[in-house]
Amino acid sequence: FQPGLLQGKRVLITAGPTFEAIDAVRGIINLSSGKMGYALAQAALEAGAEVTLISGPVCLTSPVVKKFIPITSANDMFTAVKNEVAFNDIFISVAAVADYRPAIAHTQKIKKSDNTMVLELVPNPDILQYVASLPTPPFCVGFAAETEDIDQNAENKRRKKKLPLLVANLAQEAMGANDSTLILFDDKGKHTLPKAPKIDQARRLIEHIATIYKQHPN
Ligand code: C5P
Repeated sequence: FQPGLLQGKRVLITAGPTFEAIDAVRGIINLSSGKMGYALAQAALEAGAEVTLISGPVCLTSPVVKKFIPITSANDMFTAVKNEVAFNDIFISVAAVADYRPAIAHTQKIKKSDNTMVLELVPNPDILQYVASLPTPPFCVGFAAETEDIDQNAENKRRKKKLPLLVANLAQEAMGANDSTLILFDDKGKHTLPKAPKIDQARRLIEHIATIYKQHPN
């Protein structure tokens, strides 16, 4: 794409999974390789943006962004996003944030027994919804990995979270893979980016974001 497409723009990206501790050595984690988020960070850099990448635990090397913030849990990610959001024009929430965390994170390793164990879970904050509801939010882009009824679920999420753009993908296809199909939902309707390597999809998506961002910066 055109270099300089996002020149002077500051882009905040969350990527990867969050890890919610059960005890000192165990936890709950969503399946997420971080590949799409890191590819978007790379594509945003190529477009001339200043990028801040907040990442959960992944086995990837970050592109050379302005600021890289490694985090573990959803609450850590929430704190980092709250600290950074005011300095950014565009927020792309690619992270697979755990919806729940254990009510208690034990500091010692829980001992094994023959009894059934019940784990109490409490809801995590919805980071994207918080950002999109700020009085002057950045331009917000959400992701939704769906296993079924993609169109309906995606459009519902876009409306509920008040997002100008929501990107849906099929969880079974995208998880950990190098290629993915992306379906974009915005005010103009639905637009499919046919299956391609994630870095190519990221470049196309950055192009689409730049186009609609210019039309309505918020
Ligand atoms: O509602 P759902 O989790 O499917 O929405 C997905 C989108 O919301 C993703 O962009 C994800 O990064 C974001 N999200 C979030 N905080 C949560 C849950 C999801 O920012 N607790």
